[in-house]
Amino acid sequence: MSTAISPTAYNYKVVRQFAIMTVVWGILGMGLGVFIASQLVWPELNFGLPWTSFGRLRPLHTNLVIFAFGGCALFATSYYVVQRTCQTRLISDSLAAFTFWGWQAVIVGAIVTLPLGYTTTKEYAELEWPIAILLAIVWVTYGLVFFGTIVKRKTKHIYVGNWFYGAFIVVTAMLHIVNHMSLPVSLFKSYSAYSGATDAMIQWWYGHNAVGFFLTTGFLGMMYYFVPKQAERPIYSYRLSIVHFWALITLYIWAGPHHLHYTALPDWAQSLGMAMSIILLAPSWGGMINGMMTLSGAWHKLRTDPILRFLVVSLAFYGMSTFEGPMMAIKTVNSLSHYTDWTIGHVHAGALGWVAMISIGAIYHMIPKLFGRAQMHSIGLINTHFWLATIGTVLYIASMWVNGITQGLMWRAINDDGTLTYSFVEALQASHPGFIVRALGGAFFAAGMLFMAYNVWRTVRASNPAEAEAAEQIAVVGAH
Ligand code: HEM
Ligand code: HEM
Repeated sequence: MSTAISPTAYNYKVVRQFAIMTVVWGILGMGLGVFIASQLVWPELNFGLPWTSFGRLRPLHTNLVIFAFGGCALFATSYYVVQRTCQTRLISDSLAAFTFWGWQAVIVGAIVTLPLGYTTTKEYAELEWPIAILLAIVWVTYGLVFFGTIVKRKTKHIYVGNWFYGAFIVVTAMLHIVNHMSLPVSLFKSYSAYSGATDAMIQWWYGHNAVGFFLTTGFLGMMYYFVPKQAERPIYSYRLSIVHFWALITLYIWAGPHHLHYTALPDWAQSLGMAMSIILLAPSWGGMINGMMTLSGAWHKLRTDPILRFLVVSLAFYGMSTFEGPMMAIKTVNSLSHYTDWTIGHVHAGALGWVAMISIGAIYHMIPKLFGRAQMHSIGLINTHFWLATIGTVLYIASMWVNGITQGLMWRAINDDGTLTYSFVEALQASHPGFIVRALGGAFFAAGMLFMAYNVWRTVRASNPAEAEAAEQIAVVGAH
């Protein structure tokens, strides 16, 4: 059999590009996270300039980690998974290349405009209308490439991982387009088409489902492919994965109002959001259990395989944050947690523990295969990375729990005569040690990313991509 690359071989080029950029943007986004965490410890780091102030760099951090790091990880893995599970090449190389370059252009647009202060002011939807339109075009193209590839698949089944990726692509398009409806008044200023409580409701319908579909459903697609692959075991229950899928996507979409407790939003909508959030625990844990139980009979592999450790620990953090979330959605709990660092801790339990760890595991799994190597340059360095990431995440979350509960209790403490016991500044002073621990935890996590970059670079340097694609072609041919 010839090893020449024919058009039937997979398109790994675009996967390689997105995989490398995941690491690059991960370092930049998390480095910026450490920087803004340090600004909260040493305010002098704002440098007295508007462009470097916390208020402008914070949204740049969220855009870089969610859309640049998380987005590139989702593009890379979905293109990899859809080709391998459908045993066919992406429908169009040029459209796939357009999604890569278009997505990078959106990110560069964010890096330029956000520090300059151009923003819609809607959280996670800050990018002004010209960039938002580019993003929508790239996203629709992504949908065409992904679903087009599914249509021309050579397998009978659509593997469950693709269901999750598919839902993530469709719902993200819907959220982005509806929430961004606005009236441009100049090149970089627009006003929302909605007003008042409706605007808030649509924004948090978007915001929560950005969490539910961008930061959860897409990564569950990743989980359903990479956990069984790395554990070399079939998924624990195919039936559970289907129930999990329908329950998750049906419930998530209703939970947005838990971001608007005790606001002008009608009370019934708040209570509905709370109820849906509590029920959401069930499918979330169904998915976590399905992933975890896939390791039945393969637990011993955790002793020697740090990539599997990344994947399994990410599921543990997923389970933890999806227990914490429904709890925080209960109105009485939210009256304590809202506005405090508890929310920030919850966010990063999901973001670092779940989203980043599963992405890192998946990238370590893919890189050798994409670049024609048997394994990563150094397994020891993956292990070092694993411990830095785990300890970093724990330091981050634990410090924010302590800070959050301290802040919540200090803000609500009242003297006998009805006056506040503590001033805001006193609560801020009490938070200072926690801010230091969080910055340290973040630095651990970001340092791990530097080890990853070095390990990836050494693997890529010794690589042979042409061989990787030829090997895959043989695998595809062999599978028939
Ligand atoms: C080294 C790692 C990281 C550090 C040190 C870090 C630090 C921070 C800091 C200091 C804030 C602002 C908190 C505040 O306003 O009080 C923040 C916000 C945020 N970060 Fe990170 N971050 C890191 C990684 C990530 C990752 C990987 C993600 C997502 C995948 C993420 C998502 C977010 C989000 C969504 C917010 C906004 C939270 C909210 O508004 O409630 N972060 N981060
Ligand atoms: C069953 C699942 C979950 C539920 C019910 C839930 C619920 C909540 C609640 C009640 C809040 C606080 C809202 C507030 O007081 O303002 C919150 C905030 C947040 N959660 Fe979750 N959560 C879940 C899972 C996750 C996961 C897995 C992630 C990350 C991957 C995540 C990311 C976030 C973010 C980014 C915010 C902050 C939003 C903001 O104010 O900027 N959540 N969540």
